[in-house]
Amino acid sequence: MTPTKNRRIVLAARPKGEPKDSDFRLEEVDIPSPGDGQVLLRNLYLSLDPYMRGRMSAGPSYAAPVPLDGVMEGGTVGEVLESKSPVLGAGDIVLAYTGWQEYAVAPADAVRKLDPAAAPVSTALGVLGMPGMTAYTGLLNLGQPKPDETVVVAAAAGAVGSAVGQIAKIKGCRAVGIAGGAAKCEYVRQELGFDACVDHRSLSFVDELKAACPQGVDVYFENVGGAVLKAVVPLLNNFARMPVCGLIAHYNMSALPSGPDWSPALMAAVLTKRLTLRGFIVTDFEAQRGEFYREMSAWFRTGRMKYREDVVEGIENAVGSFEGLLCGRNFGKLLVRLAR
Ligand SMILES: NC(=O)c1ccc[n+]([C@@H]2O[C@H](COP(=O)([O-])OP(=O)(O)OC[C@H]3O[C@@H](n4cnc5c(N)ncnc54)[C@H](OP(=O)(O)O)[C@@H]3O)[C@@H](O)[C@H]2O)c1
Repeated sequence: MTPTKNRRIVLAARPKGEPKDSDFRLEEVDIPSPGDGQVLLRNLYLSLDPYMRGRMSAGPSYAAPVPLDGVMEGGTVGEVLESKSPVLGAGDIVLAYTGWQEYAVAPADAVRKLDPAAAPVSTALGVLGMPGMTAYTGLLNLGQPKPDETVVVAAAAGAVGSAVGQIAKIKGCRAVGIAGGAAKCEYVRQELGFDACVDHRSLSFVDELKAACPQGVDVYFENVGGAVLKAVVPLLNNFARMPVCGLIAHYNMSALPSGPDWSPALMAAVLTKRLTLRGFIVTDFEAQRGEFYREMSAWFRTGRMKYREDVVEGIENAVGSFEGLLCGRNFGKLLVRLAR
């Protein structure tokens, strides 16, 4: 039977601190029809990413927030059910940005056709998509790793961090990961091939990190901020580089933390060690998309770039899974499977 209803998740309230279930609403609406130049998509995968926490807040940011009662934004991989465009046909699989919903209409020129024979289509949301490109462009342009240097990255078992460390290894560096818990650290060392991985929840984390970086740290790829950043800064070498990619430990903060102001110590390190810190958004490097795709695909095909997905089933589990992403319950690139 042809489905007629679309289930989608809208933002019902702007979260204060950690997002909670009542900040979202699952709605059932009619499936839309495509107009000229558009396609109707049945979404197969929805990507859940930390940046979505920013879209839930109204404060100033690099992108506009999702409006209240608006469908939550997000990258998707979908199958074309109906096409009113000459460039796509029913059955094509595409990468799109249609948000937290099972069906969507999109302009054909706003989606990218995928080749399911080249790689599993879900990788277009992970290692061969936005998170992979974030790792590639941020590390190579801003981190500028050189052979034998030490590269440290946190959230190392996740979508971005796992690729950062593997690219660092390909470039001849010592790769040190930081991750939450023994299982993730074991995976980062054994499966991904990092030289070391330290558990940021360990009581002796600061000492263990120091022991894992006997030559200091030349590149710190910043994904988390908070206590991890505080532990890394004393280990940074002169002229170290810090691509500031994400600060996930801060995303649920609604006020500055109490306690001593740490910024003078941080700025003293920036000055005396002549550090380079630069924030970036992956779209800053849009011109390198082709190069990223060529190089990352080659590493992927030859087994030098491994990845792990954490796939949850059904749109009704998107909210809980997103809440878990912000506190480390995911293990690998977090995806919601919406259809098979
Ligand atoms: N600048 C850009 O354009 C851009 C693009 C994509 C992603 N990002 C950023 O890159 C970072 C990683 O994103 P991702 O998609 O790869 O997510 P991910 O690593 O797959 O998942 C997030 C991970 O962050 C870690 N984490 C959460 N709270 C933490 C805390 N307080 N301290 C330490 N670690 C914590 C958890 O891992 P553990 O269990 O290991 O702690 C969690 O699994 C995020 O900060 C994200 O915002 C930036």
